[in-house]
Amino acid sequence: MTDPVRDPVLAAIRRRRVTRAMTDEPVARADVETILEAARWAPTAGNRHLQRFVATTHPGTMRVVRMVSPGMIARPPAAIVICVDRELAAQYGFRPDVPGPWIDVGTATATILLAAQAVGLGAGPVSSFSRAAVAVALDLPDGWSPELIVGLGHPAPVQPAPMSAGRRVTWRDLTRWVPEG
Ligand SMILES: Cc1cc2nc3c(=O)[nH]c(=O)nc-3n(C[C@H](O)[C@H](O)[C@H](O)COP(=O)(O)O)c2cc1C
Repeated sequence: MTDPVRDPVLAAIRRRRVTRAMTDEPVARADVETILEAARWAPTAGNRHLQRFVATTHPGTMRVVRMVSPGMIARPPAAIVICVDRELAAQYGFRPDVPGPWIDVGTATATILLAAQAVGLGAGPVSSFSRAAVAVALDLPDGWSPELIVGLGHPAPVQPAPMSAGRRVTWRDLTRWVPEG
């Protein structure tokens, strides 16, 4: 088995945690661009790249996004909103109920969280927000549905305790071997 202490990718995956409190320090646009460049390499269903990213470091825009996002507790000064281009998905023959485009949102999210850590930023996914209000606040093009927001910012020195899932889950708890043994 590869040693997670020696392998930098495994070590980064182990170290990543959601940032639950952020400072007001602005986020450099260049750092967001590095994260977006990483997100572009996330795997996508059929290699169709149906995700669209809406990025902002604008204080007024972030104020509105935070107002309509009750799940955004960290007060991030920047964000990437991961959308799905539903019109393009339909053109490629994806029915509205097929999971591929949603899974693409997940692969992009995981990549963005790790890339944020790599540039020294904190990050946290937010699914609790008003889709309609975010679409208006960000003037989203027709057909783009906002699915998940990743808040970005500099981690505050003191972090609230993570949500407790009870006892720590191990990979064995989540896995079943076939055949068993
Ligand atoms: C799909 C998804 C939606 C999430 N939505 C929220 C949210 O709305 N607000 C929030 O504070 N955290 C949200 N989270 C973060 C989880 O609560 C967090 O990943 C979990 O508690 C484990 O913490 P860790 O990533 O630091 O290990 C979300 C995570 C995922 C994957």
